[in-house]
Amino acid sequence: MKTSEIISIIKEAKSRFFDGQKHSFNELDSKGLNQLVTNIDIATEKFLVDEFSKLIPNSSFIAEESHGNTSDAEFQWIIDPLDGTTNFIHQIPAYSISVALQQNGQTIAGFVYELNRNEMFVATERGAFLNDESISVTKTDNMEDTLIATGFPYYDFKDMDSYLHVLEHCMRNTRGVRRLGSAAVDLAYVAMGRFDGFFEVGLSPWDVAAGAYIVQQAGGKVTDFSGGDSFIFGGEIVAGNPVITDKLQRLIQTHFEKNA
Ligand code: IPD
Ligand code: CA
Ligand code: CA
Repeated sequence: MKTSEIISIIKEAKSRFFDGQKHSFNELDSKGLNQLVTNIDIATEKFLVDEFSKLIPNSSFIAEESHGNTSDAEFQWIIDPLDGTTNFIHQIPAYSISVALQQNGQTIAGFVYELNRNEMFVATERGAFLNDESISVTKTDNMEDTLIATGFPYYDFKDMDSYLHVLEHCMRNTRGVRRLGSAAVDLAYVAMGRFDGFFEVGLSPWDVAAGAYIVQQAGGKVTDFSGGDSFIFGGEIVAGNPVITDKLQRLIQTHFEKNA
């Protein structure tokens, strides 16, 4: 596993495109309602794809801005070059580079680099780490003691009623709810115990592939809204310590089934 080379490439991307405002960003044409993209998203993705192609020749890519090529290559990268573009544009410090590496369809490494705090979250078969220190999910088991992260629907509102019922339940029955604006950072924070749980609907593989693996390797549990494992490609994710994931998943399933 070329973990240190992958980390170096991701750190080089930060230094080239984000540090010291070397490049000013342009808000480019939106890809759809509230789906913003800048020249920095595109340049960062091109750099990562070029460098990872050199590192593992013949690997394939699912990447947000180019959508890559899904092939039957042994190794596949799933990349969000900038998760939290709206935060980046508004200069709110929660955004990240997210990279997952899969071998024959199984995630074998995950990297989420929160660019403002220089926090490099990494998971491999050896476990989960933040800047080389081992991390693990919380042990909280009462919902009343949890801090829960989520993402608000912002372009597809078909699940709004179900979502708002779950949100209301969390607002009434937890210590608090946060919406940071980068799903990859939300998941990394679950993995290292800042959040006890996270849920969101409408996400794409590049938002969650790396962070979900980091949560799992930190001792957490990740499912889709039915308790299954379609959380990378299925657009629904619940993550947290195992007890809180189960509680959140049952709550979400109840409300989403009711409104289906
Ligand atoms: C977004 C962020 C956000 C989530 C959105 C994602 P982007 O990614 O992860 O937290 O709520 O659903 O699309 O567009 O900034 O890469
Ligand atoms: Ca994203
Ligand atoms: Ca993105």
